[in-house]
Amino acid sequence: MTIPNSIAIDGPASSGKSTIGVRLAERLGYLFFDTGIMYRAVTLAVIRKGIDINDEDEVTRLAQIVHIDVRSPSIADGRKEDVLLDGEDVTWAIRDPEVEKWVSKISAYAGVRRAMTQLQRRIGKRGRVVMVGRDIGTVVMPDADLKIYLDASLEERARRRYQELVQRGESVTLKEVLVGLKKRDQIDSSREIAPLKPAKDAVILNTDGLSIEEVLKKALELCGVVGNE
Ligand code: DC
Repeated sequence: MTIPNSIAIDGPASSGKSTIGVRLAERLGYLFFDTGIMYRAVTLAVIRKGIDINDEDEVTRLAQIVHIDVRSPSIADGRKEDVLLDGEDVTWAIRDPEVEKWVSKISAYAGVRRAMTQLQRRIGKRGRVVMVGRDIGTVVMPDADLKIYLDASLEERARRRYQELVQRGESVTLKEVLVGLKKRDQIDSSREIAPLKPAKDAVILNTDGLSIEEVLKKALELCGVVGNE
């Protein structure tokens, strides 16, 4: 079996897409590309510029001109990459709860998606890539050689996310995290354009009760690579 050249990983928030995607890409020597970063960066730009979140035209205009860059991590502070917004390091700012509150709304706008999808497709065409998001297997790379849909129960995802936020020093409750995730899931899966759903030919992996190593092993097996080398 040849190792798939392009790998799409989709799934709901906090299903482990980036954790698994980054490890898989490392193991295969591929580029890891987290498309959620782009929607988060646009959302941060909208908030910082004081643009009305409900003004689809203004938000779209901004999405078309902002410059988002993703590079290898320059600081060893737990980041998987550096994210630059118009040249400024916003790696942690895009993880802010305020961004999370609005990112689903902004990423449902057609023009915003068009702008982001174009760039993602260009990167996908180069191959040797693990791309993660919500619509990678269905819209961005419908011809991906391997499509994985990572899933987990809302409760498990909320627990994981809560631990992540507490470790970063954020003051949130588990209930708040759960409610926020549920709302995001609902918007992401019910939007008209490119909703979150598994592609018909995706392999669905439910990660409830599985460790990162166990999920990674399954993903590597799907790539035709033995997991525990
Ligand atoms: O994966 P994430 O939590 O960083 O994604 C943030 C938001 O971006 C998510 O709520 C929906 C949106 N998103 C999207 O619509 N399409 C993608 N391919 C990736 C993310």
